[in-house]
Amino acid sequence: MIQNLVNQQLVDSIKEIARAKTTKIIVPGENYIPVTGKVLDEDDILLGVDSMLDAWLTAGRFSDEFERKLASYMGSRFSFLVNSGSSANLLAFYALTSPKLGERAIRPGDEIITVAAGFPTTINPMIQFGCIPVFLDIDIPSYNIKADQIESAITPKTKAIMLAHTLGNPFNLDIVMQIAKKYNLWVIEDDCDSLGATFNGKKTGTFGDLATLSFYPAHHITMGEGGAVLVNNAKLKKITESFRDWGRDCWCPPGKDNTCGERYCQKLGDLPEGYDHKYTYSHIGFNLKATDMQAALGLSQLKKADSFIEKRRLNHKLLYNKLKPFEEHFILPESTLNSDPSWFGFMLTIRDGSKINRNDLVEYLEKNKIGTRLLFGGNLIKQPAYKNSNYRILNSLDNTDKIMNDGFWLGVWPGLNEDHYDYIIGVLYKFLNKQ
Ligand SMILES: Cc1ncc(COP(=O)(O)O)c(C=O)c1O
Repeated sequence: MIQNLVNQQLVDSIKEIARAKTTKIIVPGENYIPVTGKVLDEDDILLGVDSMLDAWLTAGRFSDEFERKLASYMGSRFSFLVNSGSSANLLAFYALTSPKLGERAIRPGDEIITVAAGFPTTINPMIQFGCIPVFLDIDIPSYNIKADQIESAITPKTKAIMLAHTLGNPFNLDIVMQIAKKYNLWVIEDDCDSLGATFNGKKTGTFGDLATLSFYPAHHITMGEGGAVLVNNAKLKKITESFRDWGRDCWCPPGKDNTCGERYCQKLGDLPEGYDHKYTYSHIGFNLKATDMQAALGLSQLKKADSFIEKRRLNHKLLYNKLKPFEEHFILPESTLNSDPSWFGFMLTIRDGSKINRNDLVEYLEKNKIGTRLLFGGNLIKQPAYKNSNYRILNSLDNTDKIMNDGFWLGVWPGLNEDHYDYIIGVLYKFLNKQ
């Protein structure tokens, strides 16, 4: 893969600098324990430097290889690299609005089944396009949609189900896929927090028509900023690529022309005969592409994905066992039946009636150099941004409110180990003794 760095002395120097920059020791009590983090090594940096030395800059050989290897790693038909997980969600959703999908195309005013307990950019594309999110409550302690309520949310306007696998724990794909099939609905899996999770032994991200990944540093693998759309439905391949690449009809990679061999001999739309295919647009699209430097980092990180995921699982288990004695105060997380989560974080919800106040606890942990996070936006419809949005709620969002008020999560990223957890537990005991 490395093509430009052929001088061993130079390679050794880069590795030495990279080692110094990427080796981080977090001493519990002395250093802040971040709730998420990236794990980089000298090989990641070396490949990044090599990609820069190509002086190509946009999507090129590294992007092609990353897309191929990611699809193969996931078991998806195709993958498209984009510049963030949020862009991946935008692209996946807009792909389903293509007029090329005929009656099944999502139109403004259509309803999309989702949850309000999560990250904003899972639901933003549907609102931006003028659709109506239909919010269902979540189950505690899986923190995923109450799948048994989905069928009762369906109306003639329902077109899709778009959900994240919360904090790496798969939602019930048996029920979701069964309902989608019965009512001819699209499914988008937001797999941004769950790379490598499985359901019935199959990777999440391969069930829905489309799925999305994020490669922001907090996530399972990183390229700084980055994301991908996994396409499991062949009909959507060309459409997804078109929306990503300015909306154009042509599918030439950057720097290439006339891939189709019909650059100047087509008649499309009301354009004159032979109008340049490279500048012919079949969608009102975006440019969401990433660079080859990002892809190079991603390629190097992808090799380590399995080991990162295993470490996250191990950390989750360690923390679970250490927090078991606190069950009187906290609801501990549970994996969805028939799944093997790829944990993003360790979610805790303070039990009703406990004397613990979530904000006091989180503040105490932070003061003692322990990073924490809330479950992203809590109940998104209570956020100022959604005040005037159009949406529908099925039944109640009581559990969504519960996690907004009483939930938070701790880190399980591969940079943490048992020493960090022993320290966290010690601080937790101190806090409880003060109550
Ligand atoms: C479930 C989920 N979806 C989407 C995103 C957005 O990813 P990005 O930060 O790469 O835009 C995030 C961010 O963490 C997320 O948690």
